[in-house]
Parts: sequence; C-alpha cells; structure tokens
Amino acid sequence: MEKIISICNLTKDYGEGRGVFDFSFDVKRGEVVGLVGTNGSGKTTTIRNMMGFIKPRNGKITINGYDSWKDAFEIKKSVGYIPGQIDFPDVGTGTNFLKIQADFWGIKDLTYMNELIDIFKLDTDAGLKRMSKGMKQKTAIVAAFMSEPDILILDEPSTGLDPMMRDKLIELILRQKKKGKTVFLSSHIFKELEDTCDRVVFIHNGKMINTVGRSQYDANMDKQYKIGFAEKKEYQQFLQGGYKILTKNDDYKHLTIAVNDKEMNGLFRSLKPHNIRYINYQPYTLEWYYTNIVEKQEV
Ligand SMILES: Nc1ncnc2c1ncn2[C@@H]1O[C@H](COP(=O)(O)OP(=O)(O)OP(=O)(O)O)[C@@H](O)[C@H]1O
Ligand SMILES: [Mg+2]
Repeated sequence: MEKIISICNLTKDYGEGRGVFDFSFDVKRGEVVGLVGTNGSGKTTTIRNMMGFIKPRNGKITINGYDSWKDAFEIKKSVGYIPGQIDFPDVGTGTNFLKIQADFWGIKDLTYMNELIDIFKLDTDAGLKRMSKGMKQKTAIVAAFMSEPDILILDEPSTGLDPMMRDKLIELILRQKKKGKTVFLSSHIFKELEDTCDRVVFIHNGKMINTVGRSQYDANMDKQYKIGFAEKKEYQQFLQGGYKILTKNDDYKHLTIAVNDKEMNGLFRSLKPHNIRYINYQPYTLEWYYTNIVEKQEV
C-alpha cells in the first residue's frame, strides 16, 4: 500500500528535553493510525509540524506528496484537521464559521454538512465565543469532516465530548475508513483507539517508543485479569498453575494473566481456595501495553 503520510527523523527541540526528537513513522493510504502519549509527550508538536504550522528543526514530513512546511497551504487545503486547542476566528455564530469553511473547501451542496450537524446535535446558531467546550469541539469536527477529505489529522478529537457523542465520532471515523480515507489521530482514550485504529504509535518524552498493531489488541484476544493475593505462599502457588502470566510483582503479590473463554471457569475454581485481595478485569489491551512499555522507559 502506498505511503500517504511520511514523517522522517522529525526533530523540534524546545530545549530542556521538551519537543519531539528523531521521530519517524509512515501511514499508508486507508489506514487509521493513533498517537498516544502522556501530557507534554509531543503529540500536538508532531501534529502541528505535520500541518505546516511550525518548521521542523530537522527531518522531513510529506503528506500526499506535499512537503508539510514548503507546501503548507496545499496541506491545509487537502487535509481535514482538528486542532488540539480550538481557537475560532471572531466570525459570530457557528453557522457563519461553517459557511466560511464550506467556501474554503469549495463546497456548494451543504447536505453532508447538515447531516453532520444533525448527527452531533449541534446548535450552530450559537455564538462561537459563548459555545461550551463540547459545542466548540463538535463545530471543529463538522468543519474537518464536511468536505470528506482523503486525509484527516485529528488532535484529541473527542476532547469535551460526552460518551454518546464520542461514540458518534468513532462511527464517523469508521465510516471514513470504510470509504478508504486515511486518518491520523492522537488520543488519551484507549477505547477510542482500540475501536478505530489499525495501529497505534506510542510517544514518550518526544520519542517514538513503540508501535502496536491491531492483531495485538483485537477484541477477540484473550481476556486479561490483574489479581492481587493476600498471602505470598498462595501467590507463588498460583504462579505455578500453568496460566499465561503477563506481569508479576513479587513484593506486592499481584500478577496479570491472560485467559481464553474456555479457561474462565477453571480460573475461578482455582482462585476459590485462595485469599484474594482483588481481581480486576482489564478491558483495554492497548492500555496494558502502554502502561507496561511506558513504565519500562521510566525505570
Ligand atoms: N512553543 C513552544 N515553546 C516551548 N515549549 C513548547 C512549545 N510548544 C510545546 N512545548 C513543549 O513541548 C512539549 C510537548 O508539548 P505538546 O503540546 O506537543 O504535548 P502533547 O503530547 O500534545 O500534550 P497534551 O496531552 O497535554 O496535549 C511540552 O513540554 C511543551 O511544554
Ligand atoms: Mg496536545
């Protein structure tokens, strides 16, 4: 598959270890790729470099054949973008803003725009300045998606959305994916990443630390449980029980195991005689990867 986004050795150094350092990855046409990292890890910096708002100190980014810095105008004309921090121009109501955006995209037929407004139950008559955080976010979503661009770059697109609206956004991203569009999004929400992404890139302290593919966090995978034991002896006994152990901590007497559906009853039977402090179901495998990989970086 053709590479549609290519980030090659991107460095943007803000000093004191802040910024993005020697960051490289590609996105193929039709892929949905996520970027996850803690606050300040460099997600927005990466995305702002991709959109041509800032000039990299080193490295090169191309999107659909355009150089992000030299061809910044073409990038903005062809990529649907949601910024990490929304700051609308002073143009009155949401309706005015969306009309300006429609003109910018050269959209004459506003049917799809209105469909998006309906999906997100957005009151566009409201003044931009008075909009709640969620309303602003929905306005930015409509503006980014209304031209059905081939490429979408979304910086934490579900910020400020309630859970129902988040689900609508996930549906919308999946609809674009079905149409063969390419989506790159940053997020802190593992559910949203697992539901949409083919691949997730982990960023930490401005460096790319790992990429995890869908086959590693698919919903059909084994279920994970974290189990805390009261007694060291019982903890050690359980470790020998033949389960697939993903993590263990001898000091705190807890471990994480992966079990398939058939092993489930057996698991609960083998836990029954033990003095269990807690058992946590870990629904998001991606979160498990993330926590473990980032923790290792910090050791
Ligand atoms: N213009 C700037 N001047 C100096 N430092 C900056 C500038 N922009 C970003 N930084 C620093 O670079 C680092 C990365 O910031 P960035 O906004 O990319 O993080 P992020 O991953 O998007 O975080 P968040 O999850 O909070 O949105 C931070 O330490 C930030 O303070
Ligand atoms: Mg950010």
